[in-house]
Order: sequence, then C-alpha cells, then structure tokens
Amino acid sequence: MGDHKRTFTDVKNVILSAHEDSGPRDKVSFYDKWAEQYEEDVALLDYRAPTLATDCIAEHFKGEKGSAKVLDVACGTGLVSLKLKEKGFQCFSGVDGSEAMLKLSRGTGLYQNLWPCLLGLEALPVPVDTYDVTVIVGALSVGQVPVSFIEELWLATKPGGYMCMTTRANPDNLQYKAELERLLEAMCGDARLAQVCVTEVQDWERAVQEHETGYIPGAVYLYRKALATQSS
Ligand SMILES: C[S@@+](CC[C@H](N)C(=O)[O-])C[C@H]1O[C@@H](n2cnc3c(N)ncnc32)[C@H](O)[C@@H]1O
Repeated sequence: MGDHKRTFTDVKNVILSAHEDSGPRDKVSFYDKWAEQYEEDVALLDYRAPTLATDCIAEHFKGEKGSAKVLDVACGTGLVSLKLKEKGFQCFSGVDGSEAMLKLSRGTGLYQNLWPCLLGLEALPVPVDTYDVTVIVGALSVGQVPVSFIEELWLATKPGGYMCMTTRANPDNLQYKAELERLLEAMCGDARLAQVCVTEVQDWERAVQEHETGYIPGAVYLYRKALATQSS
C-alpha cells in the first residue's frame, strides 16, 4: 500500500476496496494487507472508537482495574488495550482473525495471551465466565463479526462482568445495528444482561463513502452480565 506519506484519499481508497458484503474470511484477509498502515490510516480517519469505548469502561467499571481480566476481541494492532492500560488496566488477552494484525499486537507486549480466531465461523477459544471486561471495538458491523457472536462474548464474560461493544450508525450499517440492539434487548429481557449505558456519538469517524460527508455516527454499548447466571 505504498511508503509515501498517507493522505485521507489513500485511506478512503483502502476502505472502499473492502467489499461490505464479502464476509468474515475476505474481511480478515483485507486486514492482513492493511495491517502495516492501519494505525497511521485510522489516525487520518479520526477513528475515535477505542477512546470512546475505553472512556466508557473506565468511567463505569467498579473493581480493582489492575487485577481485572480483560478480553480484547478483534484486538487488531492493540489500540483498545493500550488505551485501557492508560486507565489502569493491566491483564489483557486478545483475539483476532488476521495473522498480520496479531503479529503487531504481539509486538506491543501488552497481552498475556493472543489467540487467532475467525469469529462467527470458529468458536471463541477462551474459557467461560472468566473475564471482568470483554470488549469488541470496530468489528461489529456488516461483513465483519456477525451479531450472533454476542452470545459467545456473553459466555466468556464473568457473572457481574462488563461487556463493551461499538458499532457504526451510517446508513449501510443501520440494519446490523438494529439487529444488535434487538439481541441486547432480548438478553436484558431474559435477565442475562443489564444495560449500563448506551452512547450515540455523532462524530464517530470521518465518512469515506461517496454519498456521505463529514463524520458518520456510531454508538458505544456497555452492559453488565447478570450475577446469578449459569453459563456452563
Ligand atoms: C477496525 S479493526 C479494529 C481493531 C481494534 N479493535 C481497534 O479498534 O483498533 C477490526 C479488526 O477486527 C478483525 N476482524 C474483523 N472481522 C473478523 C472476524 N470475523 N473474525 C476475527 N477477526 C475479525 C480484523 O482482523 C481487525 O483486526
């Protein structure tokens, strides 16, 4: 993807080259190719999701942050765990489907465990009822990780633990967002989850699609897994 100084036009072209409906396997190989430029490009995109999600977790988390176990799903290069570390969290495990992204996250030295996994196609390779915080940022959207994956995230979360999720709210992703919200609402209805906060953000990240201008919206969801629950 070139070694000249990246511009926003380069970033737009890269993102638009990923077909929205190509499915998880193609999306992960897209990230394999993008990995080396990812952090430089998302800075140009003004990608705020890791900051918004980790601010929300740090504000609401009750407990000892330093010993809390965090599962960073679709961890990419490690931006979310890096921000959580700045907030006092220290015990990170990560999962991602892209080997190139995993190589970069391994290089950060942040993670005690890193597992490859094609989410939605392979089972999440982590123990149940274990993590004080599970977080998935930038990967819950059409063509990436299916909404049904939330059930696996719930299983991995400790009873009383927190689940933090983000999604985009631009037109292409509204159906996915509605499906995600329906599932979360149903899990609250079954008393498996309780809503902590949902924040709709107007300036989520810069728009890249032809028919969009300025910034697209997005949302951060923070839920708590019920204490009295039997996952296994
Ligand atoms: C936009 S990046 C977000 C990375 C990181 N969470 C962040 O906010 O910077 C999306 C990540 O999700 C991963 N991903 C997307 N779909 C996936 C899938 N079905 N299974 C595993 N990983 C997936 C990609 O490899 C990539 O690292």
